Amino acid sequence: MNELDAIVDSAKTSFVEAATPVDLENAKARFLGKAGRITELMKGMAALSVEEKKSRGAAINVAKQAIEAALNERRQALAEAELQAQLQAEALDVTLPGRARGNGGLHPVSLTMERIEAIFGSMGFEVAQGPEIEADWFNFTALNTPEDHPARSMHDTFYVEGGSEKAPNLLRTHTSPVQVRHALQHVKQHRALIEAGLPMPEIRVICPGRTYRVDSDATHSPMFHQCEGLWIGENVSFKDLKFVFTDLCRTFFERDDLVLRFRPSFFPFTEPSAEIDIQFQSGPLAGRWLEVAGSGQVHPNVVRNMGLDPEKHIGFAFGMGLDRFTMLRYGVNDLRLFFDGDIRFLSQFR
Ligand code: FA5
Ligand code: MG
Repeated sequence: MNELDAIVDSAKTSFVEAATPVDLENAKARFLGKAGRITELMKGMAALSVEEKKSRGAAINVAKQAIEAALNERRQALAEAELQAQLQAEALDVTLPGRARGNGGLHPVSLTMERIEAIFGSMGFEVAQGPEIEADWFNFTALNTPEDHPARSMHDTFYVEGGSEKAPNLLRTHTSPVQVRHALQHVKQHRALIEAGLPMPEIRVICPGRTYRVDSDATHSPMFHQCEGLWIGENVSFKDLKFVFTDLCRTFFERDDLVLRFRPSFFPFTEPSAEIDIQFQSGPLAGRWLEVAGSGQVHPNVVRNMGLDPEKHIGFAFGMGLDRFTMLRYGVNDLRLFFDGDIRFLSQFR
């Protein structure tokens, strides 16, 4: 085998052994590069005669073309292999069944809120909302809560930045401040009637929303939901409260084994006051009293803070726990489940 054939053979072997495009380009450099074997041979022709240059040059060119052909063949083979590997890796089975996006659903507490709004709507109550970051005055002072009342302590209330040192802003601890906000608006709207001594349209409102307390166990969470109710007229009494709340519960729970208990209690903003407890006679929570609301006749000082005359305008208020209502309706024994965001739990209410 002459020298040129040996070089061509050696190049072909190197190209076949190159496993990657980078290896191949390195192998190419050894034969066709600036210091490659073929280039060296070309340089070696300088000393030859013109005749010799012709024949030698032609022979070297044949060898060079053979090497280039082998190089291109290997380049294509490697590119093809790379493409095949990529197609394998990104293989897509178009016959697999699709991954359907499940239908969303409302959170159980939202379902409760909607039900409560519908039931009160049918009794002529409107729906009002208030801010969750509240001023001390609306959350406590306007509601006849004394300066040193324990509910105002850091142990019970989340205070936030803003407001003054004496009256800091806070996360509302109940929906009761919305009573006052709504009543003040109502009074402003009907000022002319009130000043003329004419009857004012009744205040009949519910205020659902988020509330916050430094609290955490199976029946208490730091963020929970309440729904305030307020009915102020000229002759609205505790007996109306009992009727309205009992009717609400009968309609909401749709069951006959429901027992309600109005337990005497104390709130600075009502007098007399009662906590409302519910018990079922059957089911997973049977025989267990669960407190669902605080309530009472609105205190004269609060009526005054609403801009009304307590001699003329009286009524009742209540604040119910919407999470507790939801627990009872669905037989859930730990309210923290509502806030874990576990889709397996939540999807049961869809
Ligand atoms: C109040 O918040 C009064 N504002 C209710 C009221 C309104 C009384 C109007 C009179 C007139 P109380 O702290 O009891 O009351 O809370 C009312 C209800 O909210 C409770 O019965 C309970 O159902 C619910 N609740 C209270 N704290 C939590 C909590 N941490 N987690 C879940 N639910 C709670
Ligand atoms: Mg209570």
